Amino acid sequence: MTILVTGSAGMLGTDVLAVLKGRGHTALGVDIRASDRMLDITDPTAVSAAFHEIRPDAVVHCAAYTNVDGAETDTDIAYRLNALGTWSIAQACRRYGVRLCYVSTDYVFDGTKRQPYHEFDVPHPINAYGETKLAGERAACTACPDTRIVRTAWLYGLNGRAFPGVIIRAAREGRPLRVVADQVGSPTFTVDLAETIADVLDAPHGTYHCTNAGQTSWYEFARHAVQFANMDPSVVEPIRTRDWPSAACRPRYSVMTSLMCPSVGLSAMRPWENALASYVAAYCDECTDNASR
Ligand SMILES: NC(=O)c1ccc[n+]([C@@H]2O[C@H](COP(=O)([O-])OP(=O)(O)OC[C@H]3O[C@@H](n4cnc5c(N)ncnc54)[C@H](OP(=O)(O)O)[C@@H]3O)[C@@H](O)[C@H]2O)c1
Repeated sequence: MTILVTGSAGMLGTDVLAVLKGRGHTALGVDIRASDRMLDITDPTAVSAAFHEIRPDAVVHCAAYTNVDGAETDTDIAYRLNALGTWSIAQACRRYGVRLCYVSTDYVFDGTKRQPYHEFDVPHPINAYGETKLAGERAACTACPDTRIVRTAWLYGLNGRAFPGVIIRAAREGRPLRVVADQVGSPTFTVDLAETIADVLDAPHGTYHCTNAGQTSWYEFARHAVQFANMDPSVVEPIRTRDWPSAACRPRYSVMTSLMCPSVGLSAMRPWENALASYVAAYCDECTDNASR
């Protein structure tokens, strides 16, 4: 298949592009930053021209405004990108008969549930970012019925500023590490998610919850990252959300489960601890390579 990946210079988009190419697809990346091709997804004329030229069979739509705190003040910009930009991609998908996969977030939920959220739970975002991503889900499904929504959470990868990398670097530099212990979610490695997204493209349209298995707090996540990098995890100190003021409210509990994935034969992703161990090994290798250059 010929597959267009939006946001291909970003953390997830980079891995999606690599996984699709590895599976033998013709995968083409578009991004506002340097990529195979420069494309602003908020420009419907440019989007239409790109579809006309590339004639994709499928689109994985990763481009987004992803600054959760920034969205509280840049709300219009976030809507323009996450809702209007998604609508413009979805419109083009319908016009050209292309299947769409839109990447969404656990932040569409309010975090008041005490069991994992499944695909049929009613979204209720508590921050502007979550509202704009939910608007993007609705815009995608309205404009293009052949849409798969992939909701994921707490992403980290090797091609962006990722939480475990930041923690490991800070621990190495002996900086104090105070990490929130009362928000619980499912950290997800972008390489694993990219493999699942490649599978979802062949699944029927609908909403899919896709995260690494299990749940943890940011604090435990940080401790594991430090430990896997062969340092003493006791350097990480637990704090409460109210001790770390930020512009956006975040759900206290945003663990997701999937009713849809098993029903269409999609395999569960591996436990988050195993995925984090793979990330830390690759991250530490990269640091050693950079140091020896
Ligand atoms: N990160 C997470 O924890 C997380 C969790 C759940 C869901 N998600 C979702 O997963 C997807 C990928 O996230 P990510 O963390 O990989 O994001 P990311 O690294 O910020 O990548 C997004 C890419 O889109 C680009 N972009 C911004 N505006 C654009 C435009 N107008 N046209 C084309 N490209 C544009 C960005 O460029 P600039 O960097 O120059 O703006 C960036 O390269 C997003 O849909 C996000 O909402 C992320």
